[in-house]
Amino acid sequence: MSPESSLFTPGQPVPFEFFVGRVQEIERLRSLVRAAARGKFKIGFVTGERGIGKTSLL
Ligand SMILES: Nc1ncnc2c1ncn2[C@@H]1O[C@H](COP(=O)(O)OP(=O)(O)OP(=O)(O)O)[C@@H](O)[C@H]1O
Ligand SMILES: [Mg+2]
Repeated sequence: MSPESSLFTPGQPVPFEFFVGRVQEIERLRSLVRAAARGKFKIGFVTGERGIGKTSLL
């Protein structure tokens, strides 16, 4: 299967309606955002292999 026709081609975040899972990661990121909104200094790193879903998560 060519990269262009693969549903799993990296570099393109998954459309919202097809997004699954990542509940724990979303909760962790949301708690960072909530704390930042209260004035706390927070930095989060999202790391992982190519195509693992970093952009989609964010
Ligand atoms: N939560 C998810 N639910 C369903 N599919 C997903 C999810 N996360 C990633 N994918 C699939 O994996 C593909 C690659 O995801 P994405 O581009 O977010 O990865 P990435 O880690 O940002 O890649 P890169 O390292 O190239 O920047 C998406 O196009 C989608 O097909
Ligand atoms: Mg990406």
